[in-house]
Amino acid sequence: MSALALQDCDVFYGKAQALHHVSIDVAAGEVVSLIGRNGAGKSTLLKAAIGLNAVHSGRRLIGDRDVTALKPHQLGRLGLAFVPENRRIFPNLTVEENLKIATVMGRKGPWSLQRIYQLFPRLQERAAQGGDTLSGGEQQMLAVGRGLLTNPEVLLLDEPTEGLAPLIVDQLIESMRVINAEGIAMLLVEQNLKVPLKLARRQFVIDNGRVVWSGTTAELQADRARIESLISV
Ligand SMILES: Nc1ncnc2c1ncn2[C@@H]1O[C@H](COP(=O)(O)OP(=O)(O)O)[C@@H](O)[C@H]1O
Ligand SMILES: [Mg+2]
Repeated sequence: MSALALQDCDVFYGKAQALHHVSIDVAAGEVVSLIGRNGAGKSTLLKAAIGLNAVHSGRRLIGDRDVTALKPHQLGRLGLAFVPENRRIFPNLTVEENLKIATVMGRKGPWSLQRIYQLFPRLQERAAQGGDTLSGGEQQMLAVGRGLLTNPEVLLLDEPTEGLAPLIVDQLIESMRVINAEGIAMLLVEQNLKVPLKLARRQFVIDNGRVVWSGTTAELQADRARIESLISV
């Protein structure tokens, strides 16, 4: 049974169809990647999963429950957390205030402010600083921390490593391993293979709003040249 699944989903922006019969699933505790070039439909799919985009036809499932009609805040209560591409840090709030907002909205569970500071010591060092003073990597840590504080079953991450220096990317990968080891499943969107190959058990490739390939990470490695051509610009 999947922690989260989209089955045969169509999504539209106005009259323009952005996703065509898309199916993707994440098992409890699993890391799944969604890879594709710019404009392929990755963010559209994540937003369909979290309820920010309506599913026109097809189904959204959490476990065996049909949640196609539910709104984002209802899906949040059922254990989905979304870390958007632009990170949406409140610039006029401190780091700690940015984190505390999530605890207000969240579910009960093991993730506390203290545990977020354990995972990301940099955030504790900067707890009293304004959100607008953070580096890109620190902003990403804050966005992930906020997602975790809602105590999710599945964390949906939209290009978390985009624009970050290699050293910071490696630190984030380690943090994501720790998070996954705590039993949290992830749907990880990336434009290239570097991070997915290190973290995910299964991979989905999207192009022109359609899932054009899916398989295990080992299968991807065996078919790597073709996959690279599917996601290169
Ligand atoms: N809010 C929107 N309104 C209309 N079209 C959109 C909107 N968001 C995305 N699109 C279009 O949907 C397609 C997929 O976009 P997106 O999901 O953002 O791609 P990706 O995240 O893979 O770069 C693109 O053609 C994009 O222009
Ligand atoms: Mg995107």
